[in-house]
Formats: sequence, structure tokens, C-alpha cells
Amino acid sequence: MKTYRVGYLIGSVAKESINRKLANALFKLAPAQLTFQEISYRDLPIYSYDYDADYPEAGRKFKAAVEDSDAILIVTPEYNRSIPGGLKNALDWASRPWGTNSFANIPSAVIGTSPGAIGTAVGQQHLRSILGFLNSPQMNSPEAYIQFKDEMINDAGEIADKSTAEFLGKYLKAFHEHIEHVLTKVPSGS
Ligand code: FNR
Repeated sequence: MKTYRVGYLIGSVAKESINRKLANALFKLAPAQLTFQEISYRDLPIYSYDYDADYPEAGRKFKAAVEDSDAILIVTPEYNRSIPGGLKNALDWASRPWGTNSFANIPSAVIGTSPGAIGTAVGQQHLRSILGFLNSPQMNSPEAYIQFKDEMINDAGEIADKSTAEFLGKYLKAFHEHIEHVLTKVPSGS
């Protein structure tokens, strides 16, 4: 069985992040072919191209973690109808120095949850736009805009609602198929 290493980024650094809760519940539903490793971006300073001539260790480690992943999953809240600044900062770090964009040709998927009815839809559109510019082949469908309710995740950290669990299981199956497609069927460099 071929397995794929999925590096994941949580768009929130809050201790009680509902997106981290969603991510942890999601992993329990994932196909056995996918393994998940968190890529932390907490140590990154605010990016400036002044760093490009001598990238600091935190930037180099972050880029290496993205590049060592077969695929990237981003689980993010929506902040002010976009993505949180810390996540955008991390994507900027990965994209530079110019000509060394770490996301190029790495398959990705996005998902997120918020208590609001549109479940991070606007923030995810911003993120999709950024990932497109970074030349990451994204899973287009299914989209996953999850409205968070306390009862959605039980005390064991599992998705309690059967239909939500089924939907998320399908989302992860599609992500596995997307990763396999990009890594085995799409000619490199395209
Ligand atoms: C929010 N929240 C929010 N929710 C939303 O649906 N759309 C939005 O644009 C925003 N904007 C926003 C800005 C800022 C600065 C904060 C702190 C919060 C509410 C947000 O969905 C809620 O706090 C979630 O709990 C955030 O997810 P995490 O951080 O718990 O994973």
C-alpha cells in the first residue's frame, strides 16, 4: 500500500482552536494511505524580503517541511473574511526567496470551520487564490465549509454527527485520490 505524507497547517494558533479540533477529528476518518504531520509556523518572524539574502533557520525549516510533504492540508478559520495573518505570513515565507517557491506542484486541500453559517467560505476563497498563485494543484471538489457547533465533536474527539462524518470521510477519500492523481498521473513541470 502506497502511503502519502500529508503536512498540515492549522490556520489558528489559539489554544482552544475549533479548527485544530476539526483537524484532529478529521484524521480519525482518513484513509490508511494518508499520514499526517503538523507543520508549525509559530517561530516565523514577519516576512520581509530583507531576509532573502540569508534566510533564517526558522524559514529554512518551514520550507523544508513543506517540500518534504507529499501533500499539504490547510485547516483554517476565517478572520475578517480572509485567512488569519499568521497563516498568510507562513505562506509568504514558503513562497520565497524568489524562484524557490516551496508549494509548486505539491497537491493541496483546504477546509475550515467557524460558528458562522458560511463556515469559512470567504476565507477559503482567499486561500484558494493564494494557493493557485503558488502553483499548488488544489483539490477543487468537494469543498468543505463546516459550521461549528459544540455538539459536532464528542468527548472522544470524534465527529458525532453521522452525516457530517460521512461527508468528511468522502472529502478525505477524494483528497487521497487527488494526491495520487497529481503525483502519479500529472507530468512533472506541468
Ligand atoms: C473571527 N471570527 C470570524 N468568523 C467568521 O465566520 N468570519 C469572519 O470573518 C470572522 N472574523 C474573525 C476575526 C477575528 C480576528 C477573530 C478572532 C474571529 C470568529 C471565528 O470564526 C471564531 O473565533 C473561531 O473560533 C476561530 O477559529 P479558531 O481560531 O477557534 O480555530
